[in-house]
Amino acid sequence: MIRVEGLKKTYRHVHALDEVSFCVKPGELFAYLGPNGAGKTTTIRILTGLTRLSGGNAWLNGFHIERDSLRAKRQFGLVMQSINLDQELTLLENMDIHGRLYGMKKALRRIRIRELLGYVDLMSRKDTIVKRLSGGMKRRLMVARALMHSPKILFLDEPTVGLDPGIRRRIWGLIKQIQHSGTTIFLTTHYIEEAEFLADRVAFIDKGKIAALDTPAAFMARTGKWAIDLMQDGQMKSVYFKDRKEADTFVANHRGSYTLRRVNLEDAFLSLTGKKVKN
Ligand SMILES: Nc1ncnc2c1ncn2[C@@H]1O[C@H](COP(=O)(O)OP(=O)(O)OP(=O)(O)O)[C@@H](O)[C@H]1O
Ligand SMILES: [Mg+2]
Repeated sequence: MIRVEGLKKTYRHVHALDEVSFCVKPGELFAYLGPNGAGKTTTIRILTGLTRLSGGNAWLNGFHIERDSLRAKRQFGLVMQSINLDQELTLLENMDIHGRLYGMKKALRRIRIRELLGYVDLMSRKDTIVKRLSGGMKRRLMVARALMHSPKILFLDEPTVGLDPGIRRRIWGLIKQIQHSGTTIFLTTHYIEEAEFLADRVAFIDKGKIAALDTPAAFMARTGKWAIDLMQDGQMKSVYFKDRKEADTFVANHRGSYTLRRVNLEDAFLSLTGKKVKN
């Protein structure tokens, strides 16, 4: 569905992407996780034809992004990191313009708009001017708009950034629903719990390179099942154990306070790369 081989992007002296390769399978939810400046948006901008690649190749549903760019562009919907709705127009008008851009007939546009605004729970606001919506509502509208022309692939660039935890979970539910309807999803995030909750596979990108790529479960299994957080020489430290028995033995010999908990994806990345995802 998405095939990327040796992708490179150089801005003057900055190697924003350096030989990035991965494949996203049909119907998969693939998370691209990394800190600020890692190269997440650059990857999406290249795959969606917003910027040119400096090297390598990529295909969307078999269409090369540069040699077959028109057909490649028909394959996806895009939700950008920054809000790019027409703030002075209504929800309905924003959706309709998008449908027209994709050459959809009026009758089909009408059906799709009702369906999608219902889907993201914004039908009752259809005649509201966009600038009067909350941040979470705007995000949901952007997702609905990207789905207007029924794309097979959906690119989501940090879809929940800046939203409160309640709205974030609601958007996660929506993303899962979209995946279950058969859409392939490429999602970037710097929220590790978002990748852990949503993704079938996670690529950890840092400084333009993929540092690790696997399923969340496999990442965590490599680290262990249990973690103990404790203070050592004035520093917070986590120790990992493959089972509860090992953790209990450690605790029995440990003096001082500690917290015992299950390993999460953050631990996996920390122990794999020695880095935190968040800056
Ligand atoms: N138009 C540009 N001109 C010059 N450098 C750029 C440009 N766009 C991106 N970069 C650089 O490329 C690198 C990757 O940027 P990118 O926007 O892809 O990161 P990101 O992973 O999306 O980060 P964030 O989490 O902050 O959105 C950064 O070093 C950035 O400064
Ligand atoms: Mg970005």
